[in-house]
Amino acid sequence: MFWIASLLIFPICAATTAQNAESHPNSRLMSNILSYVEEDSSACDNYYQHACGRYAARHIDDPFTEITQMLDHKVNGNLVQLMDELQQRSRSPGFNESSVEAKALRFYQTCRDAPQSTRKMEHYLRLTSPAEAITWPHFAPRGEPWPKDHFNWMQALGHLYRYGFTNVLVNVLALPSVKNRDHFRLDISMPSLEGNAQHLDSFLNTLATLNAMGVPKKSSIPLARKIRRLESAIRVLTEVDDDDNSETWTLRQWEHLTGYAWQDFIESIVGHSVSNQLLVQAQNVKYFKGLKRLMDSTDAEVVAYYIMTRFVLYLLDDSMDSSEPIDCVKDVRRTMTLASDLLYEERFLDAATLQQYTQEVTQIFDQLRRHFLLQIGENRLGLTREQSSMVATKAQHVVLNIGNMPRGLDHRSFVSRHYEDLVFPLADFDYAREHLNLLEFRTRKQLLHLDQRAPSPGEFFYLAEPSSAMSSSPYYLMRYNVIVVPHGLLQEPFFAADSHDIFKYSLLGFVLAHELMHSVDTMGLQFDSYGNVHEIDPQISSSPRFEAGVQCLNQNKTQYVDERIADIAGLDLVYSTYFQNNLRRSQTDFTTIPPPQIFFLNLAQFFCGDGDPTNFVDHDNDQMRLQQMLNGFAPFHQAYGCPARSNQSEKCQLW
Ligand SMILES: *[C@@H]1O[C@H](CO)[C@@H](O)[C@H](O)[C@H]1NC(C)=O
Ligand SMILES: *[C@@H]1O[C@H](CO)[C@@H](O)[C@H](O)[C@H]1NC(C)=O
Ligand SMILES: [Zn+2]
Repeated sequence: MFWIASLLIFPICAATTAQNAESHPNSRLMSNILSYVEEDSSACDNYYQHACGRYAARHIDDPFTEITQMLDHKVNGNLVQLMDELQQRSRSPGFNESSVEAKALRFYQTCRDAPQSTRKMEHYLRLTSPAEAITWPHFAPRGEPWPKDHFNWMQALGHLYRYGFTNVLVNVLALPSVKNRDHFRLDISMPSLEGNAQHLDSFLNTLATLNAMGVPKKSSIPLARKIRRLESAIRVLTEVDDDDNSETWTLRQWEHLTGYAWQDFIESIVGHSVSNQLLVQAQNVKYFKGLKRLMDSTDAEVVAYYIMTRFVLYLLDDSMDSSEPIDCVKDVRRTMTLASDLLYEERFLDAATLQQYTQEVTQIFDQLRRHFLLQIGENRLGLTREQSSMVATKAQHVVLNIGNMPRGLDHRSFVSRHYEDLVFPLADFDYAREHLNLLEFRTRKQLLHLDQRAPSPGEFFYLAEPSSAMSSSPYYLMRYNVIVVPHGLLQEPFFAADSHDIFKYSLLGFVLAHELMHSVDTMGLQFDSYGNVHEIDPQISSSPRFEAGVQCLNQNKTQYVDERIADIAGLDLVYSTYFQNNLRRSQTDFTTIPPPQIFFLNLAQFFCGDGDPTNFVDHDNDQMRLQQMLNGFAPFHQAYGCPARSNQSEKCQLW
């Protein structure tokens, strides 16, 4: 399970079933849940083992390792079917070649049918260059030296930015301004070398990459050494700089501070001239001063090779590199997210279903929010009136967006307009060419934010990063105060519209409560209901009971304390919402298992899995998460009659 969390996004981490389509959803969900239970393991000793013990055996041959991946797998399967249908339709005379489906199909077909040679890294490099009038070094005509004096690394990075390539030497992003989310600014910082595709690989793999790019064998060994050495020096520079505070400067000030020609660089990124009074957000002066010295003393050819190698790693990371139908559908979801969302919605969720789902999810969310407002009113944290009111206002303004589509606009015309200027002018299938084409398209769309006013809540959609675009996990967008629930999440066994409320609350409800709590975790509190930095946060975060609560939650140390807050406060919220609010509108007469046990068993579905426990990104592993949530949670111990333990501390409380 891979979870991506950036400053902007907090996705939640997370079974299939031999479904009997005839049976009632309650019985289906119940028998699915029970099929994972390992009766021999005691619920009190190890709940994960008890509730999920038979997951691995049941899913031994499946290409997913937990529930959201399973939902994604279903989405992908559906989209493969849809692509087949489109292929059929495309042969009929009435097929509209400039429609959204024609464009999505076109990229899908390219992925399926393009010759393998058009996926080669050398081919990508032939289609690109480090600047208008200069080739990559190893493509210099035979017998002619590569004109290294004409190579300028900043110019190259500005030039390659059109493909969304950044975070090499310099990181540049178009982000909402910290102080006013209505205005986007270019944000300049040092690169991160932590992520998978954010640094060179081992020596041997670097060598292999150079060879795949067409660098002759005899020069690749010394080159691999040199570019790896260069990267080590860059890494040292990033480790020395500890500035994590982005400030607003005019370009002129920022040039003066660092000694770089930023204006040319920015102009090449945005594709038009800009004033030196343009405001940018920037940080890491120390890093940039060091980088300048490093670049001045490094051979331009080595820098060019370094940039080229990182560019190739970036491209590789942005493709499934496979022409299998399911992988090509993933490629389409990644690169043409809005198109696949629209086509999925239109084909697999008719208007009535969509309306019903939206209503149900909204209703659950509103109940959770109402209960949270009551909790705020109880004021466990002893906040001042102003502080309480800030938190309450923020909770009231959280917007739920189902399907990541603008709520107030017609989806088809909105998406058609979005893709209006995406064209595939040439008829042959060339994977690299179209991949680069789509990367350029995506980057243009991102940069458009710089010139536009912020969307109103009714127009809002989020231009998701490729990795979250391929996933059905919900996420909270801190800078927008929006929770996005992808359509893929609203499927069995995660959600069944006609099932008993106890199922809806314990799984979907938990996930919504988790995301809601991200709006008031240590990071979320920094932003007000509109997503802007505000004054009241420092008072709340440093209030004695808030600090004590966070410290308590961190007794068993976690790197991801905000995730733990969201888990534990989310469970507390959803459990009390369901069991205290008279929501038990009907008997759970489909089973003899007591309701609290059903609740916890279904909650566990989110965490059951058979993935490698070291594979969790930005979250503790699922077993740890479940255990941390249930440890000391009184309703859980009551539900299973677990003996009180002397070492069991009081459950930590925050909100
Ligand atoms: C074809 O699709 C485009 C883009 O959605 C639309 O503008 C155009 O009107 C459509 N043409 C026909 C004949 O429907
Ligand atoms: C910390 O973890 C250990 C082992 O998982 C557990 O025994 C203990 O109860 C936990 N403590 C808290 C406060 O959660
Ligand atoms: Zn989370």
